[in-house]
Amino acid sequence: MNTLINISFVAINISLILASDPVPEQIHLSLGGNPSEMMVTYTTFKKADRSIVRYNRLGGPAFDVNADVTHFKDMKDDTMKYEAYIHRVKLTGLQAGVTYEYKCQTDDNWSDVFKFKALGNDSDTPLSVAVYGDLGLENGVSTPQLKKDVKKGLYDTIFHVGDIAYNLNKDGGKVGDDFMNEIQDIAANVPYQVCPGNHEDKRNFTHYINRFSMIDFKSQRMHNHYYSLDLGSAHFIFFSSELYFWSDYFTDHHLKWQYEWLENDLKDANKPENRQKRPWIITLAHRPMYCIKDNDEDCFEHESILRKGRSGDDLKLVTHYGLEDLFYRYGVDIQFYGHKHMYERSYPIYDSKAYKGTDVYTNPKAPIHIITGVGGTTDRPSLKKELPDWTAFYARDYGYTRMNVQNKTHILIEQYSTENYRCKADNIWSNVFSFKVHNPDTPLKVAIYGDLGLKNGVSTRQLIKDVEKGLYDTVFHIGDIAYNLNSDGGSVGDDFMNSIQPIAANVPYQVCPGNHEKKRNFTHYMNRFSMVDFATQRLNNHYYSVDMGSAHFVLFSSEHYFYPQFFTESHIKWQYEWLENDLKQANKPESRQKRPWIITLAHRPM
Ligand SMILES: [Fe+2]
Ligand SMILES: [Fe+2]
Repeated sequence: MNTLINISFVAINISLILASDPVPEQIHLSLGGNPSEMMVTYTTFKKADRSIVRYNRLGGPAFDVNADVTHFKDMKDDTMKYEAYIHRVKLTGLQAGVTYEYKCQTDDNWSDVFKFKALGNDSDTPLSVAVYGDLGLENGVSTPQLKKDVKKGLYDTIFHVGDIAYNLNKDGGKVGDDFMNEIQDIAANVPYQVCPGNHEDKRNFTHYINRFSMIDFKSQRMHNHYYSLDLGSAHFIFFSSELYFWSDYFTDHHLKWQYEWLENDLKDANKPENRQKRPWIITLAHRPMYCIKDNDEDCFEHESILRKGRSGDDLKLVTHYGLEDLFYRYGVDIQFYGHKHMYERSYPIYDSKAYKGTDVYTNPKAPIHIITGVGGTTDRPSLKKELPDWTAFYARDYGYTRMNVQNKTHILIEQYSTENYRCKADNIWSNVFSFKVHNPDTPLKVAIYGDLGLKNGVSTRQLIKDVEKGLYDTVFHIGDIAYNLNSDGGSVGDDFMNSIQPIAANVPYQVCPGNHEKKRNFTHYMNRFSMVDFATQRLNNHYYSVDMGSAHFVLFSSEHYFYPQFFTESHIKWQYEWLENDLKQANKPESRQKRPWIITLAHRPM
């Protein structure tokens, strides 16, 4: 009985919405002029007398903001191909980290309620992003998983780097409408940032330009072709690769304007105070600079128009406004692209030279290029047999990239496959890797002590537990080791070294000599340990220095001053001169800037 009543209510509600009513749909968010502003964009097909967004903090009072409405007409030779009203509402003064709910009203019609979390301006807050290109309505493979992710609150924002819907204008715009409604559960709940792809080209990108609302943080202007954002510890630059390829629409002037805008933006991002606050510079566009050679217009051999530039209408003449030099000069860290329907991560690369080897993503010598063009399309590439030498990882599974800008020194990037084959049971395989760049100020945790023996080695047990928990990067034992290494014919030394094995076999155990190591000219101490000086690469257990984290550690021998039978004035002089040299080096401006801390360690106090 109840069920019947409910059904009849639904029927009545539907009948109240007349065909001539403006009903808000295709609701999506993008960032306003800063992280505390959110732009809500939505569409109606009828003109509304009243259009508002009503929003509130959870449990707080509600506010109404009026929409700016533009009448979007897509005309082809005097024929109307598509017509809609695009409503834009900017919500301002949002508080970082606070969840807001909102709904859109056009005349008497309300949308569902959506929720978003306002982002902040704090450069120390981690940022979680999904990045992908080439996601369509048909075979939009990643969409269901992205919806689940967004529901779980996995992302602060989403970047769709071109080729949207395939195509926004198709079937008189219906494909665009259906796509924007399909992704509403994603884009109405987190800011959905875009840049243009080649599939947005029709009638001078008119659907792309009219349907989205990308705002440049610096100029506060809406500019869907290119704009930049500051989020977390990163500066993100979205630009248009398409300016280089559609000479019907874009002249050399357009290229110049974007190039100059890019250079200005990069200059600003590189000002010491800005780069310190946001050390990461990340660019996003549709067509890649480097891709597996297929000799089409945008990627042939080792050249590409985006890398080297174009001149006039001839797409093959690569002469100016090339972007590779510009991005290299201003220290861009990562470049994201789509367009090629695959996932590909490069080694750091500049001018076709790839920097390969171990640990190349720590302080990389050149930008890293990532192509994430497998959002979901009807056309997929065959598996390439030959990979170019700059490719570090390649996959053709549908999916998307998750990027976690963790802090000023670490970014974690994972490629998420939505496919079954080659996957673990939970449908995830991850191509995880992280970058560390810009400064060595990775925190360093050290345990320091002297005077630890075998008998009554009170701290040993706790140190073992600490090391098991991974509390230390290294341990410094500053003399008087075992009491004594040589006692009982050396068996005290052996037993001590075995007792600390759970510590010293798991973290570097750095030592310097104490008075209890003196027997027979420190012979047990000298023979049992292996301390290497970083600068000379020589083994020297008496004195040596190491660079770790943001510190320069100098370990030396106080014992030189106390045992004339072993150490002459020459020995003291040699150590003194070595110390002075080492300190001079550590004090060079470039060294001191990199490692401002100088810490000495020895056994006997001053
Ligand atoms: Fe594509
Ligand atoms: Fe494309």
